[in-house]
Amino acid sequence: MSVYIETERLKLRDWEEKDLLPFQRMNANRQVRRFFPSILSYRRSELDMQAMQKNLEQDGMGLFAVELKESGEWIGFIGVNHIPEKSQYSFEELPFYEIGWRLIPEVWDNGIATEGAEAVVEYVKEKGVAEIYSMTAESNTASRRVMEKIGMTLKDTFELPGVSENHPLQPQVRYYKQLNE
Ligand SMILES: CC(C)(COP(=O)(O)OP(=O)(O)OC[C@H]1O[C@@H](n2cnc3c(N)ncnc32)[C@H](O)[C@@H]1OP(=O)(O)O)[C@@H](O)C(=O)NCCC(=O)NCCS
Repeated sequence: MSVYIETERLKLRDWEEKDLLPFQRMNANRQVRRFFPSILSYRRSELDMQAMQKNLEQDGMGLFAVELKESGEWIGFIGVNHIPEKSQYSFEELPFYEIGWRLIPEVWDNGIATEGAEAVVEYVKEKGVAEIYSMTAESNTASRRVMEKIGMTLKDTFELPGVSENHPLQPQVRYYKQLNE
């Protein structure tokens, strides 16, 4: 089991078998998923966890499992997701790395996403990533605040593929940060 990044309060590490049930519960929670089109089934979460771990093993970076150092508790994920050239999106800049986060509600509003994301930015910069993007629903204030607090700026707005025009999750926003300044 590798720990890739340590911060004052967090370990960003490989996914472990014991993370599966809390990850499944987080993704089945409607409050957590209110800025996404749907909650996730337990099976879908299991497949997602396997895919995230595979990426970490292959690339040494990706969406890291986040553990609270003080208690050893798994509390969510923070990291980067590679958006390939052939994807659901129609941006000019593809492929790119998207930085993202999802945490259990019990830990929200303690600066944890910001602390982890700042460390992820430094880590991926060392690995040669030159720029990062981040996307969320325009109404997701908490996530947008994290983007702003780590120094990202609003780049553009876009429509979430596969979701109807008047869906509450339209429009989406995309933030940007250059890392090799
Ligand atoms: C987005 C998320 C990871 C943020 O995690 P967090 O650890 O609470 O983030 P932080 O504490 O570092 O920062 C949150 C900021 O948003 C602010 N905030 C939170 N909810 C808010 C609201 N409803 N309105 C205005 N500001 C809000 C907080 O006050 C804080 O800003 P501040 O430091 O300027 O006061 C967490 O809310 C989450 O997991 N949400 C569900 C999943 C999700 O939406 N993920 C992102 C999808 S792109």
